[in-house]
Amino acid sequence: MRILVTGGAGFIGSNFIRYLLGKYPDYEITNLDKLTYSGNLENLRDVEKNPNYRFIKGDIRDKKVVDSVVKERVDTILNFAAESHVDRSILEPESFIRTDIYGTYTLLEAARRYKINRYIQISTDEVYGSIEKGSFKETDPLNPSSPYAASKASADLLCLSYFTTYKLPMIITRSSNNYGHYQFPEKLIPLFITNALENKLLPLYGDGMNVRDWLYALDNCRAIDLILHKGEIGEIYNVGADNERTNIEITKSVLKILGKSEDLIRKVKDRPGHDRRYSLDSSKIRKLGWEPEHNFEKALKETVDWYRNNESWWKRLKEKAEEFYKKQYGMEN
Ligand code: NAD
Ligand code: DAU
Repeated sequence: MRILVTGGAGFIGSNFIRYLLGKYPDYEITNLDKLTYSGNLENLRDVEKNPNYRFIKGDIRDKKVVDSVVKERVDTILNFAAESHVDRSILEPESFIRTDIYGTYTLLEAARRYKINRYIQISTDEVYGSIEKGSFKETDPLNPSSPYAASKASADLLCLSYFTTYKLPMIITRSSNNYGHYQFPEKLIPLFITNALENKLLPLYGDGMNVRDWLYALDNCRAIDLILHKGEIGEIYNVGADNERTNIEITKSVLKILGKSEDLIRKVKDRPGHDRRYSLDSSKIRKLGWEPEHNFEKALKETVDWYRNNESWWKRLKEKAEEFYKKQYGMEN
């Protein structure tokens, strides 16, 4: 396969590229990434010399760049590129609309024009919105709460329309919250690990009782791989780990692993429109033969160790994020 991965310098995309290069030595992978604040070529240092890998700095909204890459040597597209942080979307939604919606449109057009074999859209459980009890199935209606979730839901609808109208061979994956190596230290788990390592306060939103379903990034990579090879065209696949935890549970686990005091927890103002609970019914992908391999407690500890041992990776990124925290909290974090 000759694969275009967009957003491959980000958290899940870089894990996925490393996973693919390891598993399929004959696949050619092109990584198209704009290198926004969350894109980081250091995430791929260990594979950058692999002859089957090449990096192109570019924007998925740029038709010229996208067309030239797709036309030249690509038969499969996986679109990971996105603005991905809910809190940023609440402060400044514009880039989310531009990248997550218009960028997806640009890729779909190229996929259509150059008759791509497979187009995989990496979406999210956030498109369904919050659920108090039970779990969302792929057929449930979309009810996004944040501008981020709405931009991802819009992109999903565009993808589905390209399947219906143009028979574009696309598949959508909707996964729950990922954690693991190389996650930008603005998301709950890496932010709280790195804040605790620096003896900074952990800003827990609201009552800390919101629930997320935590999926180890490598388990998500395995799910995307399966969907790429065995998924049915035109379908949507939920990818959840059935591993629900409240935010306060996650916070206490991180502090316990690091041997830090719970006095570091600071309850702060809630996120506007904060979804209470996400939960996915993943029976469809489980029927295809996938299930998560990683035990949460072990993988969380391993993730904490990774951040502990890779301070030079995240310190610089946290400095980059200061501007955002000044806007969010009106002060240094
Ligand atoms: P991330 O923010 O770590 O990475 C996003 C990457 O996209 C970065 O490398 C960035 O430079 C690149 N990018 C942004 N705008 C671009 C543009 N206009 N053109 C080209 N590249 C651009 O995000 P992530 O957490 O790795 O998420 C990857 C995908 O998975 C996203 O589509 C996200 O919606 C989805 N997702 C994430 C999670 C999660 O828990 N992190 C869960 C479900 C779905
Ligand atoms: O569910 C999948 C989604 O998971 C992905 O689509 C998004 O790209 C990804 O960012 C993530 O969204 P969340 O909003 O669920 O993740 P985040 O890490 O931002 O927050 C997780 C929970 O922790 C949420 O209930 C908000 C809370 N939180 C988060 C931060 C950053 C805090 O209490 N304090 C914080 O400082």
